[in-house]
Amino acid sequence: MFLPPGRIIVNPIFLQPDISKSNCYKTSFHKENRVMKKFAHFYVTLFLFIAWYPQSAAGAGDLHIRIPYDSISPLTHLFPDSIHYSSLLYNHSEEPLPYALVAGGSKGIGYAIAEALARRGYNLILIARHSDSLLSAKNKLQSEYPVKVDILSYDLSRDESAGAIAQWCIEKKIQLKILCNVAGYGGSRDYLSLPLDSLRYMINLNIGSAMSLSLSLLPLLEKNAPSYILNVGSMAGFAPIPVKNMYSATKSAVVFFSYSLRYQLKKKNISVSVLCPGPVFTKPEIVKDTKEKLGWIGMKMAVPAKKVGEIAVRETLNGRMVIIPGTLPKIMAFIVRILPRRLIVSIYDKAGKK
Ligand SMILES: NC(=O)c1ccc[n+]([C@@H]2O[C@H](COP(=O)([O-])OP(=O)(O)OC[C@H]3O[C@@H](n4cnc5c(N)ncnc54)[C@H](OP(=O)(O)O)[C@@H]3O)[C@@H](O)[C@H]2O)c1
Repeated sequence: MFLPPGRIIVNPIFLQPDISKSNCYKTSFHKENRVMKKFAHFYVTLFLFIAWYPQSAAGAGDLHIRIPYDSISPLTHLFPDSIHYSSLLYNHSEEPLPYALVAGGSKGIGYAIAEALARRGYNLILIARHSDSLLSAKNKLQSEYPVKVDILSYDLSRDESAGAIAQWCIEKKIQLKILCNVAGYGGSRDYLSLPLDSLRYMINLNIGSAMSLSLSLLPLLEKNAPSYILNVGSMAGFAPIPVKNMYSATKSAVVFFSYSLRYQLKKKNISVSVLCPGPVFTKPEIVKDTKEKLGWIGMKMAVPAKKVGEIAVRETLNGRMVIIPGTLPKIMAFIVRILPRRLIVSIYDKAGKK
């Protein structure tokens, strides 16, 4: 017999003796109890299956890079990390140190990612527009870690940048192991309040640069496989957000692009991850915006940039698909991803009007 799941919760008749039918009550109570147990068993099995399924679906066995568990399912974010962080890369041989390229690595989350890579002995190529902040990042990293840092000044929103960067890497015979696409543009103003040029710039930088750098640098990553691509999305990429319309649209494109690319590159032994942080206070505007729009829960969700960088690198090297730093952001991401889109868009719309 198949009963709808709601019956378990809403039908109190299971627990209330019907005195008028006392003869049959005992038998029917036990029968219903057995049915309830069967349903509880069914749901527990279903829950465990959904939690386990993504790892097998990702074809973890085919990928030579170790994948402790894959987070395609939002459920996996609720489980405590059971990863053994042993795949950190140290150079014990005479071979030259491998390189990691961080696009948008002079400040904020990008700098934190660069630092976490330097801590593991990776030489670095940092890309950003402003030479002064690039130079200060280079000096800081080289003074603290025994690594070489190269800096390149490019506007990543421009079509020609990815090709020029790849050409530079080929000429310098860079042994590229990791590509981190971090640079992104967002803010409190978005669609309907930004000019078309700014919206195009956002699309070109947030998704265009990740797409073109990944493709231009693919031959180098393939040559140095096992290798890694880390794209930086956002929790904003899990749902439509009216007040951040194009930003959430570009970040969901980054998330989807990363999911598909992971499958496309697994035979090449290149692991693709996507970092989806909640609020990270890299500048005062983000603190103000978070406080206004998301209130105390937003403030509690914030994770320091340094911690985000460390988690991002650690989990990328462990082959994790979706990386959400922090327990509260993980829980919020889970809720946002399971709620119906129509409901979540209206919640975000109300929060955005505050
Ligand atoms: N902060 C958050 O709360 C948060 C939350 C979720 C996701 N994210 C995402 O995380 C990424 C980094 O955010 P963040 O807050 O760390 O940003 P940030 O502090 O503003 O740093 C951005 C970095 O990218 C570089 N950059 C910006 N535009 C560029 C361009 N057109 N060409 C080349 N480089 C460029 C910047 O250097 P120059 O200015 O010198 O070019 C800087 O190195 C973004 O993709 C963002 O969407 C941030």
